Amino acid sequence: MANSKSKVKRFGILTSGGDAPGLNAAIRAVCRTAKIQYGMDAVGIRNGYRGLINGDMFDITSDSLVGLLTEGGTILGTSREKPFKNPVADSKGKFPVDRIKENYKKHKLDALVCIGGNGTNTTASLLAEEGLNVIGLPKTIDNDIVKTDMTFGFHTALDVATDAIDRIHTTAHSHSRIMVVEVMGHKAGWLGLYSGIAGGGDVILIPEIPYDINHVAQRIMERKKAGKNFSIVVVAEGAKNKEEALMDKKKFKKARAEMPYSIGYRVAHELEEATSLESRVTVLGYLQRGGTPSPYDRLLATQYGTAAAHFLADGDFGKLVALQNSKITGVPLYEIAGKVKNIPLDHAMIETARELGTCLGD
Ligand code: F6P
Repeated sequence: MANSKSKVKRFGILTSGGDAPGLNAAIRAVCRTAKIQYGMDAVGIRNGYRGLINGDMFDITSDSLVGLLTEGGTILGTSREKPFKNPVADSKGKFPVDRIKENYKKHKLDALVCIGGNGTNTTASLLAEEGLNVIGLPKTIDNDIVKTDMTFGFHTALDVATDAIDRIHTTAHSHSRIMVVEVMGHKAGWLGLYSGIAGGGDVILIPEIPYDINHVAQRIMERKKAGKNFSIVVVAEGAKNKEEALMDKKKFKKARAEMPYSIGYRVAHELEEATSLESRVTVLGYLQRGGTPSPYDRLLATQYGTAAAHFLADGDFGKLVALQNSKITGVPLYEIAGKVKNIPLDHAMIETARELGTCLGD
């Protein structure tokens, strides 16, 4: 029986979008706090919103939560299912959102906890508008969710990327090469800028600052003239040159999709052409999403998770659990839906890079 203090007796929990270290820590914190403090039952929903549409769920027991704090990935599975995007009716003429509402009722859910990035929390906001009781948690290695200072997953990805850049230094020096390291981050440059500075990158290219490849080449040649026989170039996967920055979204997306290799390879090729210096590329890819969460991400994911349990008990629905000035708070989901948090051009970390003499491509 739900504790008299709690407005929720039974809730569903799902993880959606790209996986990230800390997801299991968050699941553990929500379910454990909800059970211990309020006697709530948790229902695991498999593979993000797909499991909610298909009714693919299971009861979470205390055994399900053992060992989750340190485990990477998500025990629930995930997907990029977007129930509101180009919805198609099934053989019975039912649309995904209708099926979600049916399953929500059929499984006697009083609320939903949705753990994910921009896309996940946008869907969560739309489900809240449909009358479901929804709480969102901010997960992504990109750190690109507005109105929260930090998403969990980012810190671990920053550790991985920085360690990789550290390692690249030795081979760059040994071979006197330009070494390009491509990092994730989707349309934002947080991972690129932070790992570039932490890893001592000489050049950092991020989506927020369109670059001129000739300017980058010139800076690398200046380094060479000053006796530096190598350069480390950190490229965020969403980085764009000045011409691409003038394209509309659709045109840029098409151009990028038609590019036969990722941006890191293009930058390396262009720099080799412009400087006649050997260049090599390392794309970190999914290493940045793998493995056990850092202690910081375990703490952040746990804080978000315990807070979510209290939001459920208080019936404080339609909110993203967020971190603002070191305080956990709730932000209406509609205020974050459809938005991406890019780095403000006057951000202190951009200032720091410039003060260090790091080339940002402009
Ligand atoms: O959003 C996290 C992220 O890793 C982005 O940094 C990256 O662009 C994207 O997911 C990759 O998506 P997928 O896992 O679908 O290939």
